[in-house]
Amino acid sequence: MTIRFTLNGERVSTDVAPLARLLDVLRDEFGLHGAKEGCGEGECGACAVMLDALVVNSCITPAAAVDGRTVLTIEGYRTSSRYRVVEQAFSDAGGVQCGFCTPGIVMTAESILAANAAPSDEEIRHGLSGNLCRCTGYATIVEAIRLAGERIRDARA
Ligand code: FES
Ligand code: FES
Repeated sequence: MTIRFTLNGERVSTDVAPLARLLDVLRDEFGLHGAKEGCGEGECGACAVMLDALVVNSCITPAAAVDGRTVLTIEGYRTSSRYRVVEQAFSDAGGVQCGFCTPGIVMTAESILAANAAPSDEEIRHGLSGNLCRCTGYATIVEAIRLAGERIRDARA
């Protein structure tokens, strides 16, 4: 079947098998390797992308489900001014993790901040609940998202 959707700001189309996973289509058809395969079961967040206004795990999202919709991957997000604010906040707060989990965590950060630029720590932790990293604590990630929210709000003021 043919699907048509907006990918990182561009209208695209491609033929996909009925049960193809969005993660595979992004990586194999479009060469977008920022979303990673970790668990492959919707539990780690390494494959997170934005679908319309929500973050989804692309390993359990059928490619057919994005027909007519908008997908933003870390590659597209990196071209935005918002990304630079979030990137700097992660750097300043020491929230940068490894290259495997960070893209998914950053996409989740964007979804949290897009919904609410002044999230509480509890809301940030709840938003991050689908992103796993066994290597470190989450305190600096929470701090980074809180800091990014402050800077986004300051820029609006
Ligand atoms: S690879 Fe998709 S949630 Fe883990
Ligand atoms: S999985 Fe990325 S730092 Fe642990």
